[in-house]
Amino acid sequence: MSDQLSQQYLISLGNQFGTPLYVYHAEKIKQQYAKLTTAFKNSDTKFFYACKALTNINVLKYICSLGANVDCSSINEAKLALHAGFPSDRILYTSNGIAFDEIAEAVSLGIIINIDSLSNLEKFGQTYGRSYPVGIRLRPNIMAGGNLKISTGHDRSKFGIPVDQIEKVLDLVKKYDLNIADLHIHTGSEIKDVDVFVKGIEILFDLIPKFADLKFIDLGGGFKVPYKEGDSETNIDELASKVKEAFANHPNPGGRPLQVWFEPGKFLVSECGYFITKVNVIKQTDAATFVSVDSGFNHLIRPMFYDAYHRIENISNPNGQPKRYSVVGNICETDTFAWDRTINEVREGDYLVFYNAGAYGFEMSSNFNSRYKPAEVLVKDNQAHLVRRRDVFEDLLRNQIEL
Ligand code: LLP
Repeated sequence: MSDQLSQQYLISLGNQFGTPLYVYHAEKIKQQYAKLTTAFKNSDTKFFYACKALTNINVLKYICSLGANVDCSSINEAKLALHAGFPSDRILYTSNGIAFDEIAEAVSLGIIINIDSLSNLEKFGQTYGRSYPVGIRLRPNIMAGGNLKISTGHDRSKFGIPVDQIEKVLDLVKKYDLNIADLHIHTGSEIKDVDVFVKGIEILFDLIPKFADLKFIDLGGGFKVPYKEGDSETNIDELASKVKEAFANHPNPGGRPLQVWFEPGKFLVSECGYFITKVNVIKQTDAATFVSVDSGFNHLIRPMFYDAYHRIENISNPNGQPKRYSVVGNICETDTFAWDRTINEVREGDYLVFYNAGAYGFEMSSNFNSRYKPAEVLVKDNQAHLVRRRDVFEDLLRNQIEL
C-alpha cells in the first residue's frame, strides 16, 4: 500500500464505519520508524515511542512489534504498554510532578524511570538508595518548539530540574549513593532545527563527568512533522550525523560509551492518522461561509488549543471549484478548525478529512457537550479493523452514580 490512504478508500471507510472517525495507517508508522532506525543504524541509539500521542492498544502492540521501546507520561500508560506486550525493560516512565506513590509503583513494575524534581529524588533516595537505577529529567533552559504551549525546556517551564540546580542534584546523589543511569532533557514539540538537539547534548556533555554510573543520555522527542502544504519534517539523517559529530568532538565523555535515547511521539504517529468528518450544515454569512462538521474541539482540540494547522480536504468533491470557508464544529463554543481556508466546493453531506490527525487527536478528545467520542480504525496489511467502537449513550452514564 502506498504512503497515503487514497480519498476513495477513506470515503469507503466513512461509509462503512460512520463519522466522525479516526483512521490510522499502520504501514506509515512503520515507515516513520524505519527512517529513525536507518538514519541511526551505525550509532548506539534507542527510540522510545512517546505514547501520550496515541495509546490505542492496537497501535501500541503494532509499535511493540516493530521493536521500538515506549515512553510513558503516567503510570496508566506504563500499564497499557505492559498490556500491549512491551517488556518492562523497554518501558520508560518520564514523570512530571507526580505523587511518589506512582514512582513506587513504577519500581514495582520494574520499568525505567526519569525523575523530574528534587523532592521526588530525595524520596527515591530515602526509599531505594542505590538499589534501583534511575534517570534524572533536567530542564536545559533552551527555548524550542512550535508554540509556547508545547515548549517545555525553557527557563520558565515547570518541567525537569533546572540545570542551574545541578549541585543540589549532586548532593542528593552523594547523600543516597544514587545510581543515576540516564540524564534526560526534552525541549518541546515540533522542533525542526536539529541544532536544538545538539545544543542539548552540549549541555549534557558538561554534566556527564559528574555522574559516575551514567549509561544513557535521553534527548526527548519533538521531531517536527509537516502539517502544512510545503512544510518539511525534521531531517533525521542530518540529526544522526550531527549527533555523531557531537560525540566525535567529545570522545568518550566521562570515560565511557553512552547510548543515546529519543522519545518521538508525533514523528511516529501524526501522519498515519486521518480524521474523517461529515458536513452537517453550510451557513452563508457576511463574514464567512461556515461549514459545520459533525465534530468539534471535543474530538480534535489542536487547532483551538495550539492554533495548530491541519490540512483539510473535501474528499467527496475533489474536483469541485475551490472556495473559501471557515470550518467549524457543532459544539456550543467557538470550535473553529480552520479560518478562511480554500477547499473544493463543499456541500452538505460531504466528507471532510483532516490530515496528520494521528498524534494528540483522539488522545485529547473528550465527551464535552455529551457528544460521543469517535470510533477508531486501524488499517493494517490492507485490512481495516475497528479498534475502538464509537461511544453509545450508556457510555455517558457509565461512571455516574444516580442518586
Ligand atoms: N518526551 C516527553 C518528555 C514529552 O513531554 C513529549 C511531549 C514527548 C517526548 C513527545 O513529543 P513529540 O515527539 O510528540 O513532539 N499535545 C501537543 C504536544 C504536546 C507534547 C507534550 N510532550 C500537540 O498536539 O501539539
